[in-house]
Amino acid sequence: SSSINVAVIPGDGIGPEVIAEAVKVLRSATASADAELDLTEYKLGAEHWLATGETLTAQTLEKLRAHDAILFGAVGAAPGDTRIPSGLIEREMLLKLRFSLDHYVNLRPSRLYQGVASPLGNPGEIDFIVVREGTEGPYVGNGGSLRTGTPHEIATEVSINTAHGVERVVRDAFRRASERPRKKLTLVHKHNVLVYAGHLWKRTVEAVAAEFPEVTHDYLHVDAAMIFLATDPARFDVIVTDNLFGDIITDLAAAVTGGIGLAASGNINMDRTAPSMFEPVHGSAPDIAGQQKADPTAAILSAALLLHHMGFAEQAAKIEQAVENDVAARSATPRTTAEIGDAIAAAVS
Ligand code: NAD
Ligand code: IPM
Ligand code: MN
Repeated sequence: SSSINVAVIPGDGIGPEVIAEAVKVLRSATASADAELDLTEYKLGAEHWLATGETLTAQTLEKLRAHDAILFGAVGAAPGDTRIPSGLIEREMLLKLRFSLDHYVNLRPSRLYQGVASPLGNPGEIDFIVVREGTEGPYVGNGGSLRTGTPHEIATEVSINTAHGVERVVRDAFRRASERPRKKLTLVHKHNVLVYAGHLWKRTVEAVAAEFPEVTHDYLHVDAAMIFLATDPARFDVIVTDNLFGDIITDLAAAVTGGIGLAASGNINMDRTAPSMFEPVHGSAPDIAGQQKADPTAAILSAALLLHHMGFAEQAAKIEQAVENDVAARSATPRTTAEIGDAIAAAVS
């Protein structure tokens, strides 16, 4: 039998609540596969910073590197919590992990499950993935402020797009498209305005397309893409895009497929030079934290992505099927976070 060594970072707010359920399901799915699951919990996030003043130390980062994969909940303080500098934990912990561990493929699948209500009514069959670049773009912190606080303040936030960074994520997106029934890739950008980065992305897609003659590809400006995401999301198969557009697109994608409580993601290092990290798309949801109101499905589906990445495709599929059955059977009577987790864990045992 095989073994898998996972670092667990529950984080803040609803993070620990949803991760507890994802862990139940992971345990259940690996036990039924006769795989050994070794879990190590790391306390990181806003609460940890308040207690220790640490975001992510070099030592902790090195410890995390030694795991096969990371399961992550969510971090971040409530808006208006003045004890913590805004975004500090998000940047110095979450983004630092994505960058340090070279998570260049931020994979965010969107499916409208049977029985789940979409705000769009009857949008047809929604089943697409967003391949969001995870290590570059405006997220790199390349900016500054001059004459801060004066009427002449100048703030810059420079988006970094490297040929290497764009090519590897575009190639990954084409490969994923080539393995899907529709084999269709859409580049989403804004090259009518963002000329330099936009054209690098466009040229890269044209060049890599030659390696995947079976994949058809097209292009949409991000604003028009949002029209289609809100009116005809069934048209999409694989979307490849930069870090910031991908962030925004995937929250809308989650909303049209029944809500943020169902949206999973993987921060994947496809070269496997460091562990990949799997997390729900949502944040720490301070408005519902500690009340057993959070939907753990996104965290559970993220655990399935983790298993898939670690070579347990059968167990991952089993979890996805259990989630599909569970969401189809959901009634108007709300269940607690743990009740949902228990039901799905039982179904995969
Ligand atoms: P959020 O995703 O935490 O919450 C947005 C809304 O969705 C809230 O109404 C919340 O109650 C609801 N929601 C989120 N997850 C849910 C779930 N599983 N079940 C049911 N409802 C759910 O976004 P926000 O309010 O903008 O951010 C809160 C904090 O989280 C901020 O500090 C932010 O920076 C941080 N954040 C962290 C991550 C992450 O760790 N990956 C992602 C996004 C935001
Ligand atoms: C996400 C989050 C993060 C992002 C934040 C918290 C840094 O919104 O995972 O989508 O922007 O990538
Ligand atoms: Mn986001």
